Amino acid sequence: DVNLLYAAVFAYLCGSVPFGLLLTRAAGLGDIRNIGSGNIGATNVLRTGNRWLAAATLILDAAKAALPILVARYYWGENAAMLAAIFAFLGHCFPVWLNFKGGKGVAVMIGSLLALSWPVGLIFCAVWLVIAFAQKLSSLAALTAAATAPIFAFVVVNEWLAGAVAVMALMLFFQHRANIVRLMAGTEPKIGSEKTAK
Ligand code: G3P
Repeated sequence: DVNLLYAAVFAYLCGSVPFGLLLTRAAGLGDIRNIGSGNIGATNVLRTGNRWLAAATLILDAAKAALPILVARYYWGENAAMLAAIFAFLGHCFPVWLNFKGGKGVAVMIGSLLALSWPVGLIFCAVWLVIAFAQKLSSLAALTAAATAPIFAFVVVNEWLAGAVAVMALMLFFQHRANIVRLMAGTEPKIGSEKTAK
């Protein structure tokens, strides 16, 4: 179906816009890839010390996934919307503009879930917040929220959404492989700490 191809390409291109990189560069803070973990996401933008820039990165990275999903659903239906979510995720994690070295997918997953099923999106945010406040570890919060999201998608919506969410969760885990190694070694930096890890 050529419409599904359109949805996938549009979503990939939206997802591939590296807002964290563009915003920090525009703010004169240099290349975010040389700061902290080197990641282009909101957590690492926060390590520049600019909270507003981090918040803007979070919101724009979420919006760039939600937009193609809502467009795909409007024109081509729910299957196209789920496909768009996966391709926005691929665009963010593997952007052609940055030699396929992109972000880790947390904000993109939030935007995708809110667009696909807002209750599942809110549950994801709640799980993230609980773990983040309890442990002060952004990556652990994201990994926990992603691991539980397919279960909530299954309970709240259906097995199809659960499958699409599971694909996103697997990609999120893959992108966090360096964080997982640091978490197990006990060397992952806490949110708000000055100490950063490459
Ligand atoms: O948003 C990604 C987060 O889970 C980890 O980011 O920069 O600490 O690797 P970072």
